[in-house]
Amino acid sequence: MAHVLGVDIGGSSIKAAPVKIRTGEITVQPRQVPLPEPATPNAICEAIRDIIENFNWTGPLGCGYPGVVQNGVCFSVAHVSDDWLGVNLEKRLRELVKAQVKVINDADAAGLAEMRFGAGRVYHHSAGGTVLMLTLGTGIGSALFHNDKLFPNTEFGHILMPEGIEGEELAAAAVRVKENLSWDAWGLRVNKYLEMMSRFLSPDLIIIGGGVSENFDRFKRYLTVNTDIVPAQMGNKAGIVGAALALNLTSPDSGSTED
Ligand code: BGC
Repeated sequence: MAHVLGVDIGGSSIKAAPVKIRTGEITVQPRQVPLPEPATPNAICEAIRDIIENFNWTGPLGCGYPGVVQNGVCFSVAHVSDDWLGVNLEKRLRELVKAQVKVINDADAAGLAEMRFGAGRVYHHSAGGTVLMLTLGTGIGSALFHNDKLFPNTEFGHILMPEGIEGEELAAAAVRVKENLSWDAWGLRVNKYLEMMSRFLSPDLIIIGGGVSENFDRFKRYLTVNTDIVPAQMGNKAGIVGAALALNLTSPDSGSTED
């Protein structure tokens, strides 16, 4: 399996590209389309069908979905329409490509990519410690790794904060824009959220992903949690690359990749 089509269904767009899974490279320009409104299963599957046709793709496909996914079935709907509850996305996508398909949570996907090819590479190779990847975007996504094994569907963005609201309502990147917060004010909120995460998980490393990772320098001075905190390295490609890597999760050795 040299290449897998990685599809990332995000809170505002769908991005996709073929990924060389041994190296994590994307060799052609990814396609990006706005998330359809309303973001129903039919509308999103239609958009993915167009992407598949555009790439003339007939091979394996990995997909990240912005909610809980168990055995290919979607079980939560933070950013898409309620009709997604109980939809077997894996099955629907398999009908489109007639090849192997795996669907996982979008943040889990981004985490897999950062662990293998990005900011968590060292931890991946040494297979030591607890790494928490957080994607700060429309919501907050989380991917938790211990000794390089993913604990899927952690959904830490929904943890209740002392302010009486969920973590993602307090500190997602979209909240900074919506509430017109300065980087300083928002950075302090992110720190509160990280303190909460740190208290419960004692991670050895926290990776901050999402578009804001590019602006890490603007808020890192507020992150005083006693844990190593680094920005993600793969930018918005992490979701696509990690979705493609998800296919390998089904094999007993998740680290094995063929060329
Ligand atoms: C969803 C998560 C998702 C995250 C980022 C949250 O609201 O519950 O499943 O990973 O947003 O898209």
